[in-house]
Amino acid sequence: FGLMTYDPAFMNTASCRSAITLIDGDKGILRYRGYAIEDLAEQSSYLEVAFLLLHGELPNEAQLRKWSHEVTHHTFVHEFLRKSMEGFRFDAHPMGKLVSMLGALSTFYPEAKKVRDDKTRREQIVRIIAKMPTLSAWAFRHSVGRPYVYPDNELSYCGNFLNMIFRMAEPRFEPHPVLERALDILFILHADHEQNCSANAARAVGSAETDPYCSLAAASAALYGPLHGGANEAVLHMLKQIGSVSAVPEFIAGVKNGSGRLMGFGHRVYKNYDPRAKVIKKLAHEVFEVTGKNPLLEIALELEKIALSDDYFVKRKLYPNVDFYSGMIYQAMGFPVEMFPVLFAIPRASGWLAQWQEMLQDPEQKIARPRQIYTGADLRPYVPMSNRA
Ligand code: CMC
Repeated sequence: FGLMTYDPAFMNTASCRSAITLIDGDKGILRYRGYAIEDLAEQSSYLEVAFLLLHGELPNEAQLRKWSHEVTHHTFVHEFLRKSMEGFRFDAHPMGKLVSMLGALSTFYPEAKKVRDDKTRREQIVRIIAKMPTLSAWAFRHSVGRPYVYPDNELSYCGNFLNMIFRMAEPRFEPHPVLERALDILFILHADHEQNCSANAARAVGSAETDPYCSLAAASAALYGPLHGGANEAVLHMLKQIGSVSAVPEFIAGVKNGSGRLMGFGHRVYKNYDPRAKVIKKLAHEVFEVTGKNPLLEIALELEKIALSDDYFVKRKLYPNVDFYSGMIYQAMGFPVEMFPVLFAIPRASGWLAQWQEMLQDPEQKIARPRQIYTGADLRPYVPMSNRA
């Protein structure tokens, strides 16, 4: 094992070269293909950002028209898949359903196995980005026992998703434009985050030349984990548990004494601030202007204020992360907490696909196959059954 390095959780190992996303944790910088996340959130749409992640450049007008048209016209999923949704229990978690449906999609597109063929790969990328909102919305409608709403090609990416989620009557659900745009911004902020757990899963599984549906099923399974896609749900539970602004100091004192963590605070990479959190905080105020204030907001603001001026948090470089405010926004929009990881997975699909594609196009990449430090027994004589204890 002489030359091998032991690096559990890849804390200090670059598993790939990548030109997609840059994070500078010390400076609080996040860029997609060189563009600052703040600029993209302010000026772009999620579909433009998805194109950027996948193609390396922002689309011009004609490219965006073609890309939007393609995505819009692949939003339907096969009826058999809709039927297979019926096989889940009434209380099945929407994220569990999404993971399964992504894997199941692979059986509808056997040609997707030709992962080295540019045209085939591109077709699957469009299909996945187009179908993520449909599968996600149907996973939700199944949970609440409402009839499925079919995609509406006249609507925007987010408008169509919101219609499939919330439509109760003809002709369609009309979201408030501020809320539709807010969802688009949240999708931009969540689209990629370099080699996080789920992107790493997409690359590792895809490195076996597994088709993209199964590679993304693996990625979304990783995202399903509470340490990855579940933190914003935990923030809501924490705020509810605190209950009132006056109870915040006592809660913070408890955290400092080791009673638990301040959820939505801290990050493995960002040690200054999470630039996504800044955008989201501003967005939260815009959303609450429309929906009315989420009663948990005051508690969150007080928590943030106290933590940012407290030595314990300052010394450990703990700042609000992307999840601190996002859950409150989703809740104000009417989404139940079980949908939060699904709302993360929809836009992250473009990041997973960009990472998966880059891995396949990199001549230096091979099947992911880490080594290990063996800690088991040395060679020993075989013990026949009659001699075993
Ligand atoms: N509240 C209180 N103390 C904390 C927190 C927190 N949220 N986060 C870290 N610490 C303390 C920790 O106890 C340790 O203190 P000490 O040095 O005295 O032992 C120190 O800070 C370093 O902690 P760590 O566990 O080594 O830090 P990490 O980089 O491994 O953990 C983290 C990063 C995000 C898992 C962690 O900060 C955390 O658990 N945060 C709360 C959960 C959360 O909000 N997760 C969402 C992350 S953003 C989502 C995404 O980008 O995908």
